[in-house]
Formats: sequence, structure tokens, C-alpha cells
Amino acid sequence: MDRRKFLSWAGAGWLSSRLPILATLTHLVSCSNNNQAKTSTRPDEFVPVGEIEELDKSGQLLVEQSAIGPVSVVRSPTDPQALAAVNPTCTHQGCLVQWKSERKTFVCPCHNSGFAADGKVLEGPATKPLPTYAAKLEGKSVLVKGS
Ligand code: FES
Repeated sequence: MDRRKFLSWAGAGWLSSRLPILATLTHLVSCSNNNQAKTSTRPDEFVPVGEIEELDKSGQLLVEQSAIGPVSVVRSPTDPQALAAVNPTCTHQGCLVQWKSERKTFVCPCHNSGFAADGKVLEGPATKPLPTYAAKLEGKSVLVKGS
């Protein structure tokens, strides 16, 4: 084997032995970029979750998959101009609570725990309050801030 053929053969061998590593690195960079795109909303920013007309029509704005996770927004029972927002995942066993306008209470359909608009437990078996979010109105948009 002459020198030129040897170098060509050795170069092809070296390259083929590195291809799996290059493919893996390319995949990791690609996944990293995708994850950055999905988490571009910072939890400390207000994000739109719907329109005030939807909220007023049904009494609550329930969004199971917003940028900050599940969120339920209602008008504050003590100040109808203010909004109250909670994570509607029941702290007992994880069912989604529903706002009952006539009782001004979030009620869990699974075991009937009750929560105030500010997330406080009114009736068990749940013992922990619903996590709350800051909420505001901007024009017709309802905005919620994650933490
Ligand atoms: Fe809500 Fe049990 S899951 S009361």
C-alpha cells in the first residue's frame, strides 16, 4: 500500500469512527434549542391566558395548559374590578377544581373540597391552599404572572 492510499484509508476510518459522536452532539444541540424555545416565557412575566369576555360569560377562565401551567381566573368576590387567579389543581389528589359562581367557591368534583377565590381551604379533605397567581386586565386580555 502506498502512502497516499494509506492516508486516504486512515482518514476515512477516522471520519467514520467520529460520525456517531457528531450525530449525537448535533442531536443534543438541537434538543437544547427546542427546550429553550419552549421555556422562553419566564415565570415572573405576565402572560395572556384569555379574554375578559370569556371570563364574564362563564364566570371563570379555566386554561389547563397555559405558559405557566393550569390556571383559573375569576373576578374577586370582594372587588369585582379585581381578578383572582389560582392553580386549579386540587391539593388533595390532583383533580381540577371548578368555580361555582353562586357559592363564590372553587369546588373539587372528586371529593368536594372547597376553596376560596384566594385559594384558601374552606372545606376538606384538602388541607393545603391552591397556589395563587397575580392577575390583571390589560385592555380585553386577562394576564397572569407565574410567581
Ligand atoms: Fe380534590 Fe380529593 S382530589 S378533594
